[in-house]
Amino acid sequence: MTCRVVVLLSGRGSNLQALLAHIDRHVIDAEVVGVISNRPHAGGLAIAREAGITAACIDHRRYSNRAEGPSGNRAEGPSGNQAEGQGADRTSFEQVLGTTIDALAPDIVLLAGFMRILTPAFVRRYSPRLLNIHPSLLPDHRGLDTHARALARGDRIHGASVHVVTPELDAGPVIAQVVVPVLADDDPESLAARVQKGEHLLYPIVLAWYAEGRLDLGDGQIRLDAQALPETGLRFELDDLSTPMQATGGHAGRDQSPQSHSPRDHSEVP
Ligand code: GRF
Repeated sequence: MTCRVVVLLSGRGSNLQALLAHIDRHVIDAEVVGVISNRPHAGGLAIAREAGITAACIDHRRYSNRAEGPSGNRAEGPSGNQAEGQGADRTSFEQVLGTTIDALAPDIVLLAGFMRILTPAFVRRYSPRLLNIHPSLLPDHRGLDTHARALARGDRIHGASVHVVTPELDAGPVIAQVVVPVLADDDPESLAARVQKGEHLLYPIVLAWYAEGRLDLGDGQIRLDAQALPETGLRFELDDLSTPMQATGGHAGRDQSPQSHSPRDHSEVP
């Protein structure tokens, strides 16, 4: 049965576009049944509308809560950031968000650059069928500005992770990662572009696994083909994902057991 997907985003939607491209090429048996943004001008909404997909904006600014006070947590956060201290505004925003999602009857909800803090209650409502893509090799560099922080720390490798969203910021079980080298002349923009190339191949692969019924997300232990994944999930080099076969999304890892995709020794990576 075709997997029904809802994508939540706040920005340009390049990950959405990559998912749609893989679905269009029939390499994932899935349908994006709705795209929801908290920002009216998000590029991802235009991508969805152009593709004939239901696109909704739930503008978080319409749910401002003055009662929250200066100590309240009103900052925007990266997707997967569920801080305590949410006020009634956040609750009503999430009620509308949840109602909108539920009307679309998704099998899975994908966060793709959704820049709003989600409450633990909201996360629990969809857990474990709520995934996020984060631009770092988790558990390194949770939160924002991951590329600049990787450069500042002198990391030699960097990448992106697809993980299950849990109430703690970017701390849910990791399903898969893509590793890219950090080059000597990188700045945050060039590094981000390399990481995004990986993201656009990694998220479709994970969705394909889920759509094929190969991914068990329950109980905090991720299983692919009934085999427990390591803490970093399955790790791929960017080049591993660049071949047409791997880029199909449904085939990466299929010929090998999860164990054979255990994290590599990256010491030789420049
Ligand atoms: C991605 O880099 C993703 O890792 C992060 O937000 C960004 C979204 O980019 N969570 P886009 O809107 O898909 O281009």
